[in-house]
Amino acid sequence: MFSRRIERLSESLTMAITALAKELKAQGKDVLSFSAGEPDFDTPEAIKKAAIEAIESGFTKYTAVDGIPELKEAIIGKLKRDNGLEYTPDQVIVSNGAKQSLFNLTQVLIDEGDEVIIPSPYWVTYPELVKYAGGRPVIIPTDESTGFKITPAQLRNAITEKTKLLILTTPSNPTGAVYSKEELEALAKVLEGTDVMVASDEMYEKLVYGDVRFTSTASISEDMCQRTITINGLSKSAAMTGWRFGYLAAADRELVKAMKKLQSQSTSNINSITQKAAIPGLDGTIDADIEMMRRQFEQRRDRAVEMLNAIDGISVLSPDGAFYLFVNHSAVMRDSMQFAKELLEKKGVAVVPGVGFGAEGYFRFSFATDLASIEEGIKRIEEFVATK
Ligand SMILES: Cc1ncc(COP(=O)(O)O)c(C=O)c1O
Repeated sequence: MFSRRIERLSESLTMAITALAKELKAQGKDVLSFSAGEPDFDTPEAIKKAAIEAIESGFTKYTAVDGIPELKEAIIGKLKRDNGLEYTPDQVIVSNGAKQSLFNLTQVLIDEGDEVIIPSPYWVTYPELVKYAGGRPVIIPTDESTGFKITPAQLRNAITEKTKLLILTTPSNPTGAVYSKEELEALAKVLEGTDVMVASDEMYEKLVYGDVRFTSTASISEDMCQRTITINGLSKSAAMTGWRFGYLAAADRELVKAMKKLQSQSTSNINSITQKAAIPGLDGTIDADIEMMRRQFEQRRDRAVEMLNAIDGISVLSPDGAFYLFVNHSAVMRDSMQFAKELLEKKGVAVVPGVGFGAEGYFRFSFATDLASIEEGIKRIEEFVATK
């Protein structure tokens, strides 16, 4: 009855668990949720002010499909300042969140049978987008032994003549792994001389901890700049998940033009108000707000990692970035769905089962929530694990 395309898609497991937790909460149950991928902070004032000004000045009409010129200039300025990358406006497109940027990209680039390399654990959406486009996800598994990062040898072995794209996420959702400059250089060497393109999802760029330095994949070399499509946005770093702003930049102007064509026949421009509001999110105006949030995330990370690693039977690597812990519970129970369901039903703690990210025996714990809830939630996890 429905198209074969839609039958290939699965529902987002992260959203399913969040919905179940909300339902239990609505029934009056005491639920602590660590499942959602969004900051608990409010959107910075400068962004709200820019949005209000946009409304009051009547900036409420259709705009250019790929974004208003001043927003594109702010994106270009950001990519130059933060990442040392140079783009012109026809190499940039603004979308309804980074998610739409990725959707546009896979629809435009992937044909039936094309292979897309996805390191696992992966963000739930990648394999689904590839399947929807008719492509075949080729998963490279990783674990704690490499800090959840793929090695050059793994990449070399995964490439075939059908490989079209590699999707890299740095920092990673769900593991928080951040590729160093040297690690990216080693992967870049493997790609030299191939036609493989790279989608570098850098959504969590601003959220890195300790002395870890973020490196943008396209900045590694001229060769990498030519083959890399950079995806970014403000949802996570500027607490703007609901505003729906994301963007993509690529050296290949024809590729950007094709995505613009697709967007012009689907959603058109993102809402005009968000476009004005995003500018102070990119030009340095809210740097202090971002730093305030980053520091708090770092404190929470340290406390949560310490508490979790004190529990017998589970372990977690301290993530270098993003706001998730990818916790290994395989010594207690292998089935991550069963673990997450039981934990929610018995202790009112919502986490996301690792199976959704392609890794059994783990759960993802978001620390984008207040410290008191984190401490209470981990206490409950400890009680739960003690019964096993
Ligand atoms: C790695 C990664 N990329 C992209 C997104 C989507 O972000 P947006 O809200 O901009 O669509 C998310 C959100 O969870 C994410 O974790």
